[in-house]
Amino acid sequence: MRAIAVSAFRAEPCLVEMPKPDPAAGEVRVKVEYAALNPRDWQIADGALDGVLPHVFPLVLGTDFAGRVDMIGSGDNRFRVGDPVLGRVTAPPVGRCGAYGDYVCVPQDSPIALVPRDMPLRTAAALPSAGTTAAQILSSTAVRSGRSLLVVGATGGVGSFLTQLAAARGIGVVAAVRGDEGRRMGALGATATVDTTDPEALEAAVRELYPGGVDALVDLVSTDAASFASFAALLADGGVAVTTRGVAAPAGVAWADFRIAPAPGLLDELTSAVASGELEVPVDMELPLEKAPQALAQNRAGGARGKTVFAL
Ligand SMILES: NC(=O)c1ccc[n+]([C@@H]2O[C@H](COP(=O)([O-])OP(=O)(O)OC[C@H]3O[C@@H](n4cnc5c(N)ncnc54)[C@H](OP(=O)(O)O)[C@@H]3O)[C@@H](O)[C@H]2O)c1
Repeated sequence: MRAIAVSAFRAEPCLVEMPKPDPAAGEVRVKVEYAALNPRDWQIADGALDGVLPHVFPLVLGTDFAGRVDMIGSGDNRFRVGDPVLGRVTAPPVGRCGAYGDYVCVPQDSPIALVPRDMPLRTAAALPSAGTTAAQILSSTAVRSGRSLLVVGATGGVGSFLTQLAAARGIGVVAAVRGDEGRRMGALGATATVDTTDPEALEAAVRELYPGGVDALVDLVSTDAASFASFAALLADGGVAVTTRGVAAPAGVAWADFRIAPAPGLLDELTSAVASGELEVPVDMELPLEKAPQALAQNRAGGARGKTVFAL
């Protein structure tokens, strides 16, 4: 089968031929039709999980997939051959299977779910990691209707879902972005859009909207505690700040480092929200699998607008 893999940490991802994986007991094998890009993919290639989880090389990249169950391992299983499924490849060792490969084997109790009838697999593939992250972050902040949320990096995968989920709950979303993205963010439900490249104007705009400060901050961008703290300075007393970039540790009890948790049931909730039209899946770009190395380099440089998916 074809796969995009790296031969070592920090090696260039490239297209390789590999043997098809066989499903172990309790696993399903999925013929992948679409994979979605997440920054986690190049972060893993850089060694983000080195020393945390075992890895195998060549390490097949990719977490999020949608496809059809193609083979069932021995033992009980909640899926059947032919089922359309979406999910995340999370079981160690990292790289044994990856979404950027024609086939993945995943434990049947891992974060996978059936794709509802009529939902294109292309749409489904873009949902698992970014949708799960957005939903879990929103519940971790416990922000209620009528309150406010500042999202830094709102134009990307997580931010696009988070903006919609929060707006649907009646939360005022201030989307902090780079560039002229007011129209895009407004269409996703943002109350206001501010530019992070002019910090003084950003602060003035937020203070004008919410003179007492915002109720919550989700920072998807800052890679140092000082930058995170500068956004957190816009919080109201008792406000909650969450980062996905691991920079909250020294900051205090109301500031949290977010870590995505496996949640197959949440995937069902997300696909239902998409099927009912409550949640839009913003697929910005579709590319053939062969273009994944260039797309990963592009994502590392920035500029994501919604999700990029690969057709296998
Ligand atoms: N801890 C966890 O469990 C977890 C879970 C999910 C995601 N994450 C992490 O969270 C981050 C975001 O994920 P994602 O999937 O949303 O990534 P993404 O799709 O690549 O989006 C990132 C967005 O941030 C924007 N951005 C970058 N620098 C910015 C700045 N200074 N000001 C405003 N916007 C800026 C980018 O656009 P421009 O470059 O055009 O500004 C892009 O739209 C990634 O680092 C990811 O690894 C962590």
